[in-house]
Amino acid sequence: MPAAARFQLVRLNNGICSVRSLEDAETFHPVVGPVAEAEALYVRQLRLRERLQNHPGEFVIWDVGLGAAANALTVLRATRDLACQIRLVSFDHKLEPLDFALQHAADLGYFGGYENPLAEFLRAHRVEFQDGAQSVNWELQLGDFPAWVANPAATSIPRPHAILFDAYSPARNPAMWTLPLFTHLFQRLDPQRACALPTYSRSTILRVTLLLAGFFVGVGHATGMKEETTVAANTLELLAEPLNARWLERALRSHSAEPLREPVYSCAPLTPTTAERLRQHPQFAACQ
Ligand SMILES: C[S@@+](CC[C@H](N)C(=O)[O-])C[C@H]1O[C@@H](n2cnc3c(N)ncnc32)[C@H](O)[C@@H]1O
Repeated sequence: MPAAARFQLVRLNNGICSVRSLEDAETFHPVVGPVAEAEALYVRQLRLRERLQNHPGEFVIWDVGLGAAANALTVLRATRDLACQIRLVSFDHKLEPLDFALQHAADLGYFGGYENPLAEFLRAHRVEFQDGAQSVNWELQLGDFPAWVANPAATSIPRPHAILFDAYSPARNPAMWTLPLFTHLFQRLDPQRACALPTYSRSTILRVTLLLAGFFVGVGHATGMKEETTVAANTLELLAEPLNARWLERALRSHSAEPLREPVYSCAPLTPTTAERLRQHPQFAACQ
């Protein structure tokens, strides 16, 4: 099926356009649109400008689910006036969404000024450019992310200071939300390098998964109609509002909390073993 038949532009209630995958029956940024969502979820929540201003050397961002590049470009545009070096690594198993989005750049509106680097990125799967004081080194890892992250040999990619995690929803795209995936991802982090990972879901299953994978986990900012999202990090210092003992109590009673161990979506209460592991997590151990 040609890309034009697999994707379409949808106009949201606020008049902003977003890309929709017809195969996956999901709109990429369904509530407030690509730029507003990326600013709230990633730029402000990661305190990206503040971290970049105080950061010597390369700041590494992993963009998991490149899609139509709205998150990546919003992050670059929001920091283009800062003297900084950004190393951006985007992961996706398809380039069609980006290709489709570039063909509809005028409607989507967030490509302005980045058309040339993106054309080079699509062609060569990497691009380096200078934008004012900001230098950008951007590369693509094309392939299945769960397989890539599970392969310990694939270590040439620098370890991240921030991760934009934007797969399709767990019900549609369970392979991107399993406990093995987040465990491997956590193992890829450098314990000496503070790293935060915001994502749009606030589900108990996701939060338990992140905790069991080794992350600390906090409540994330509202984005549009979502009153809460989630931020995970390898240090509590990057979390404004860590999940607390009340959240733990609710998770222990929830009917939908057990992590996915296989790429199959399911809802189940915590097993006794998982519940015990959760109680012993350093984030909660002090509350017992
Ligand atoms: C919601 S879209 C991402 C939107 C994107 N972040 C943006 O700003 O436009 C989800 C993306 O995840 C990618 N994806 C889904 N499963 C994947 C997998 N197993 N490996 C790598 N990428 C995957 C899809 O191809 C899709 O582009």
